[in-house]
Amino acid sequence: MMTTNAVILAAGRGTRMRSGWAKALHELGGMALVCHVERAVLKAGLAKPWVVVGFQAERVEEVLDQRAHVVVQPELRGTGDALACALAKVPADTDSVVVLVGDCPLIPPSLIEALVEHHRTAGARATIVTTRLDDPTGYGRVVRGIDGQVAAIVEESECDDSTRQIREINTGIGIWQTEGLLEVLDRLPWHGEERYLTDAVAALIAEGHAVAAMTAPEPDLVMGINTRRELSRAEARLRQMTLDRLFDQGITIIDPDTTYVDAEVEIGCDTILYPMSFLRGKSRLGRGCRIGPMTTIVDSKLGDEVTIDRSAIEHSVVGSHSTVGPFSHLRAGTHLDRNVHVGNFVEFKNTRMGIGSKAGHHSYLGDATVGSNVNIGAGTVIVNFDGRDKHPTFIGDDAFVGCNTNLVAPLEIGSGAYVAAGSTITQNVPADSLAIARNRQENKSGWAKARRSEVR
Ligand code: UD1
Ligand code: CA
Repeated sequence: MMTTNAVILAAGRGTRMRSGWAKALHELGGMALVCHVERAVLKAGLAKPWVVVGFQAERVEEVLDQRAHVVVQPELRGTGDALACALAKVPADTDSVVVLVGDCPLIPPSLIEALVEHHRTAGARATIVTTRLDDPTGYGRVVRGIDGQVAAIVEESECDDSTRQIREINTGIGIWQTEGLLEVLDRLPWHGEERYLTDAVAALIAEGHAVAAMTAPEPDLVMGINTRRELSRAEARLRQMTLDRLFDQGITIIDPDTTYVDAEVEIGCDTILYPMSFLRGKSRLGRGCRIGPMTTIVDSKLGDEVTIDRSAIEHSVVGSHSTVGPFSHLRAGTHLDRNVHVGNFVEFKNTRMGIGSKAGHHSYLGDATVGSNVNIGAGTVIVNFDGRDKHPTFIGDDAFVGCNTNLVAPLEIGSGAYVAAGSTITQNVPADSLAIARNRQENKSGWAKARRSEVR
C-alpha cells in the first residue's frame, strides 16, 4: 500500500507583503492563509499535514488549531531545505509527499486528489502541478524538452530572455517519491543562502528519473500570494466563490458587490442578505433570516427567521424569531432565547434573555440573566462594574423594569416584580412587589406664575 502524506511549506517571512506578520498569518476570507491550505489537505482525504514553520513559528502554530503536525525550519534556507526538514519528521513508511506552499490558499481539494491519482498512474519520481498564465512574472518557469517532457524549473531570477517568455509556470504544488529524495535535496546547489526545491526537478532527471507534470485548469485557484495586491485579488476570487455557494444553497443576496461573507460561514435557505453586511468567522445563520443592511455578525449563531437591522453581533447566540436593531450591539456572551425583541441603541454584554423578553430602546445590560417575558424599559442601565469588579444581576420571569432605571449589581429582581421608572435600585426586589427608589414629587402651586411676575 502506498502511504502519502502532505507537507505545507509555510516558514517564510513574506518580505514582499511588507508586513510585521509572517505571510502564513495573513487572513483571507477571515482565515489565515495557511489554514486554507490545511483545510484543503484534510478535505482531499489526506492525513493531518506536516506544516513547516519558521518565521514567527509560535504564532503560526497557534492558528493551526492542532489540526496539523508542526515542523520547525531553524533557518530560512529556501523551499528545498524546508522540505528536507519535513522529510526528517514524516513517518518512515511515507512513500510519497504532496508538497504544498502555504501561500496558495485557493487550491481546490479536488486538485490535490487529482494530483495523487495522476502521480500514481504516471509512475514518475515526482509530479509537479503547472499552469499557464498570460503574465507569468514572479513564478518559476517550466522548461520542457523537445520531447515535451518537463526538463527543469527555472526561477524568475535565473531566467534568460527566452526562458522568461515561457508562460507555463510552476505552482509550487507537487508530489514527490520520498525514496532517495533527502539525498537529492542535500546535493542541491545554493543560491545565496537558499536551496530551491525546484532545482530537484532537473536533479532527478539528471539521475535518469522521470518527472511528470499535471496542468491545473483554473490558474486563479493556484495563484501564489506574495504581495498585498495578490492577497486582495485572491480575496475577491474567494468572495465570489463563497457567494456562488450561497446562491446555490438558496440564499438571496440583494447586492453581492457589498456583501462580505467569510469562507466558513453557513446560512440556511431563504435567508436574505441586505447590502453592506459582513458575516464573519464561523457564524451560523438559520433559515429565513433577514440580515442587514449594514450589519456585522462575528462568530455568532442565529436561529430561524431572525431579523437583524444595522447592528453588530459578536460571539453571541440569537434565538429563532428574535429581532435586533436598528443600531444595537450584542457583545460577547449574549444569549437571546426565542422571540426576544432588542430594539434600537441597546448594548448587551454577557447577558441572557429568556423567551419573549424585550429591551426596546436605549439600554445597557451587562452580566445579567433575564427570565422570560420581561420588559426592560427605555434607558435601563445595569450598573455591573464598580471600578474594580463585575457583578451579576438576575431578573425573574414576567418582571417589569420601568424607564430610566439604574440596576446596581449584584442584584436580584424577583419574578413578576415591578421597578418604578427613574429608580436607582441597590437592594434586591422580592417577587411580585414594586420597588420605587426616587424622591417623591412635590407640586408647588402657582410657583411659576409668581416667579414670572418677580422677573418683570
Ligand atoms: C515558489 C517557487 C516557484 C513557484 C512559486 C509558486 C521555489 C524556489 N520557487 O516561489 O517556482 O512558481 O512558489 O507560487 O520553490 N518557504 C519556507 N522556507 C523557506 C522559504 C520558503 O517554508 O526557507 C515557504 C514560504 O513560506 C512559502 C513557500 O515556501 O509558503 C514558497 O516560498 P515563496 O518565497 O513564496 O516562493 P516563491 O518565490 O513564490
Ligand atoms: Ca509564493
